[in-house]
Amino acid sequence: MKKHRRKKDAVAKTSPDLSAEQIARLKELFPECVTEGKVDFSKLRAALGDEVDSRPERYSFGWTGKRDAIRLLQTLSRATLIPSPKESINFEATENIFIVGDNLEVLKLLYKPYFGRIKMIYIDPPYNTGNDFIYPDNFADPLDTYLQLTGQKDAAGNLLTSNPETSGRYHSAWLSMMYPRLFLARQLLRDEGVIFVSIDDHEVYNLRQLMNEIFGEENFIANIIWQKVYSPKNTARHFSEDHDYVLVYARNADLWRPELLPRTDEANARYSNPDNDPRGDWKSSDLSARNYYSAGQYEVLGPSGKKFKPPIGTYWRVKHEKFQGLDKDRRIWWGPSGDNVPRLKRFLSEVKQGMVPQTLWNYSDVGHTDEAKKELLEYVKFENTNNVLDTVKPTRLIQRMLQIATETDEGDIILDFFSGSASTAHALLKQNREDGGNRHFICVQLPEPLPEPEKRLRTIADIGKERIKCVITEMKKADEGKLDLKVRVDTPEDLGVKVFKLAESNYKPWDGTEGKDPGGYAKTMELFTDPFIPGWKPENVIWEVAIKEGYGLNSRIEPVSSVKGVTVYRVTDSDKGQTFQICLDDRIKLSALKALTLKKDDLFICRDAALDDEAAANLALQCRLKTI
Ligand SMILES: C[S@@+](CC[C@H](N)C(=O)[O-])C[C@H]1O[C@@H](n2cnc3c(N)ncnc32)[C@H](O)[C@@H]1O
Repeated sequence: MKKHRRKKDAVAKTSPDLSAEQIARLKELFPECVTEGKVDFSKLRAALGDEVDSRPERYSFGWTGKRDAIRLLQTLSRATLIPSPKESINFEATENIFIVGDNLEVLKLLYKPYFGRIKMIYIDPPYNTGNDFIYPDNFADPLDTYLQLTGQKDAAGNLLTSNPETSGRYHSAWLSMMYPRLFLARQLLRDEGVIFVSIDDHEVYNLRQLMNEIFGEENFIANIIWQKVYSPKNTARHFSEDHDYVLVYARNADLWRPELLPRTDEANARYSNPDNDPRGDWKSSDLSARNYYSAGQYEVLGPSGKKFKPPIGTYWRVKHEKFQGLDKDRRIWWGPSGDNVPRLKRFLSEVKQGMVPQTLWNYSDVGHTDEAKKELLEYVKFENTNNVLDTVKPTRLIQRMLQIATETDEGDIILDFFSGSASTAHALLKQNREDGGNRHFICVQLPEPLPEPEKRLRTIADIGKERIKCVITEMKKADEGKLDLKVRVDTPEDLGVKVFKLAESNYKPWDGTEGKDPGGYAKTMELFTDPFIPGWKPENVIWEVAIKEGYGLNSRIEPVSSVKGVTVYRVTDSDKGQTFQICLDDRIKLSALKALTLKKDDLFICRDAALDDEAAANLALQCRLKTI
């Protein structure tokens, strides 16, 4: 009988292929419609019968360049994230993450490790005012664009451009930039996750349509009005623009429910006790409504002898017997002299402990733009005020979102991939401190050069890092001397940040042309012997392997000391409960591997050339083997 042999697999060298994943999902539903990885549309159409809409004038949302935006989404990322412990605080233990890079490449890399794990996303993208910078994506080579833009590679021209209103593709360019990013963002959200997006009138109309397409109209939750200024701009040509919007979409509106907001003193002040009711303060509410209610047309007699029917066109909300019961229980308010239209008393002690969020957010509750700038300046000392961001958001605004969309003690992950000056990170640290929470952030920011680069602050990403650092330092300082620290039950407060940077892969590029050009054979052989770029560093390679195999950025990398003669590391992602061992040595002797005592489900990763055929075959029988 033929012996069953397990094969070695190759490690993933790029971000996942999204279209292949979608086709695989389609295949699960319609196996007959997918052959050799391709979809047979005529079979799919036949399988769906009458449910296919082929009318030429059906409703759809399009713009010039949409097809390229979809292609951009499908382009695999060949980049990686490299750790920067020097710029981090408490690198090993913290679960807060700051990533410097283009967010599209980063989202592609986060796709596998963070699929369905993010509780809340807040983004504040460029509003497309005509003066702001819109990232010039290039689907032919996205990483190259990034490297040129950040001065890591020679550029033919200056790529840092705004999107002037006069450019013919003003809205289209913005939509093409947003589409793939929002698409990926949705994939990262948990089923009961939610996204908040700041925007103004330049693009709110387009953004709503785009989000309807990506998230589904049925998952629209609200369009919040944030009153961003406290005084009108009298120099405005037409109207003084006093508000921004925040669009809210759930991953699944049937599953998502907002957390109630803490009751404010102002809301509580609306309750009083004019009749000295022993049940405490109350407020009256209308007992009649416009909806037709056949049992709600009766007449009632007030304490003063005056009779009342519901006002014309309205009906009592309750049946007569219920009304009488309420009146007997002194829950009907007839006014101070007992001769007013009856109203229902609602006791403060009986209302929900929190308040349902509303769609109008006043600056007095959530801050305004001046407050936001002041907060930034309090922590980051600029040499040149031209470098202060105009678009900075107040932490109170983002704290309101955190209160609505996250839980205090569930270790929720919050993502902001247009992080700017890191207001989201600041708001999260503040909120955790105020309610003892253990939320964590992932912030992504382009190293967009500042108008007047300074000695320490050269890019917007530098501002973000500096702000987080200063907030943490101040919080630690505030703790000094306090004996009994926070009231934290399980986890200590996470006062750290782990910095990563988007960079070129550690793997040598394999573009498939090696066999064709004259020096191809030699090049292939060179790749075979050393798959890594010159000057590669073990920790960078291990992180790249981990991320592309779906391990999160909180994974721990530890040397396995028990093995002699080879260097082995264990990588553990305790959030996902998975682990692998990796050895990057040129050659691995079988005797060394024995010491590892690998079992059937253990994953072991090494260079392809490190094992001879027999050793590889034996090892593949013993454990799950992947090679580089
Ligand atoms: C409106 S600002 C965000 C301001 C932020 N909410 C704050 O409070 O400071 C938008 C930010 O997105 C950044 N950005 C634009 N394109 C990006 C990209 N492709 N990847 C990462 N960041 C990007 C810009 O550099 C800018 O700092």
